Amino acid sequence: MTDSRIEISFTLNRRPVTLRVDPRSRLLDLLRYDLGLPGTKEGCGEGECGACTVHLDGVPVNSCLVPAWQVRDRAVLTIEDTAEAAVERMLDAGTTQCGACTPGVVMTARWLEANPRLLERFSARHLMAGNLCRCTGYDGIIDGIEIPVPDREEA
Ligand code: FES
Ligand code: FES
Repeated sequence: MTDSRIEISFTLNRRPVTLRVDPRSRLLDLLRYDLGLPGTKEGCGEGECGACTVHLDGVPVNSCLVPAWQVRDRAVLTIEDTAEAAVERMLDAGTTQCGACTPGVVMTARWLEANPRLLERFSARHLMAGNLCRCTGYDGIIDGIEIPVPDREEA
């Protein structure tokens, strides 16, 4: 039987990685099962909930929708790269119950922290709209992000 997997190289959490992947597999599967990084969660599996959010070349993406081979020669950051302090902030703000959404929320929050000018044009709630939480509501999540939110009352 021929091996249909393809070899890809990319940067994962600032380190180079080379491995063979099934061309049908998703980035989410590559991370969780091939690379043993279970921090990225699967919720809906169809691009609706944001639980699986990672950064691809600095931009948040739903890893359940990205074919694994598409990360070739690109940079992926996952929740495992995140300083514990960022996660602790979310816990302190009471944003976590089941925790399924938390890694995705933190990854989107990191993107906002790196791109604060977005908050001059859009509210934090708008920018976080791709991350759904079925447990806690969103006030704590917005507070837990700890970024300057110019119009927090209206956000
Ligand atoms: S699991 Fe990817 S968006 Fe829901
Ligand atoms: S804490 Fe359960 S989905 Fe957000």
